[in-house]
Amino acid sequence: MKAIEISNLTVRFGGLLAVDDFSFEVRKGDIHSLIGPNGAGKTTVINTITGLYPVSGGSIRVAGKEVLGSSPPAISRAGVARTFQNTEIFGEMSVFENVLVGSHCRHEYGLTAAMFRTPKYWRVERSMREKARDLLDIVGLSADSDKIASSLSFGKQRALEIARALASEPKLLLLDEPAAGLRSGEISHLNEALLNLRKQHELTILLVDHVMKVVMSISDEITVLNFGRKIAEGKPDVVRMDKEVRRAYLGDNPDRA
Ligand SMILES: Nc1ncnc2c1ncn2[C@@H]1O[C@H](COP(=O)(O)OP(=O)(O)OP(=O)(O)O)[C@@H](O)[C@H]1O
Ligand SMILES: [Mg+2]
Repeated sequence: MKAIEISNLTVRFGGLLAVDDFSFEVRKGDIHSLIGPNGAGKTTVINTITGLYPVSGGSIRVAGKEVLGSSPPAISRAGVARTFQNTEIFGEMSVFENVLVGSHCRHEYGLTAAMFRTPKYWRVERSMREKARDLLDIVGLSADSDKIASSLSFGKQRALEIARALASEPKLLLLDEPAAGLRSGEISHLNEALLNLRKQHELTILLVDHVMKVVMSISDEITVLNFGRKIAEGKPDVVRMDKEVRRAYLGDNPDRA
């Protein structure tokens, strides 16, 4: 079974065809990148998978189940988590609390348990806290746990957003430009964290990014979009050499790949 199967997806905004009869599949356990020039439709694909945009046609199956038409919370419960192109964290909360918010989406102990602090409440709370510490460790934020989130560097805020997304224990993680604006050292950390996550957490990752140092080095498979249509697909080395990709995306400048 595939982690994602998208068939003939079409998304229109008024007269604009943002995604045009797009089909693709992501294998379970892969890091699969979706790349393409600005405005190609990458974020629109992520937004439709997470139920944010109404679509004009097609089908999106996640782990075999149709999710088109489901609400964002239902899709989240189906095991899908994401980060946003513009980082979204709770700036006033601590780093640790930001991750806990993510796991509260997953675990429920009911109002009674919370009010009377039942053993179940403490059990769930304890395991969420342990989990949050693990996730902060994976993304390299252990030492920043008690800091106010807005005081972190931009790169660390992006890492925090990933940890929070993971706290909902997704099977499928959608990342929208996690490397944008990161420094070279931070990019190496990101690559390492994503490879570790895939290995240890049986996670499938759909990655949208313009940063080739990430895309080309950690992707199992790459799909290239241009004007809402798929123009190429394959292993990094194949896509890197593809003529149409170079024309559309890399401006025929081999150095950028
Ligand atoms: N909510 C919206 N309303 C109207 N048009 C939209 C909306 N969202 C996206 N678009 C348009 O759809 C097209 C695809 O946009 P999208 O944001 O998916 O591109 P992208 O590949 O993520 O680009 P970038 O690399 O710049 O983030 C663009 O022409 C964009 O202007
Ligand atoms: Mg985008």
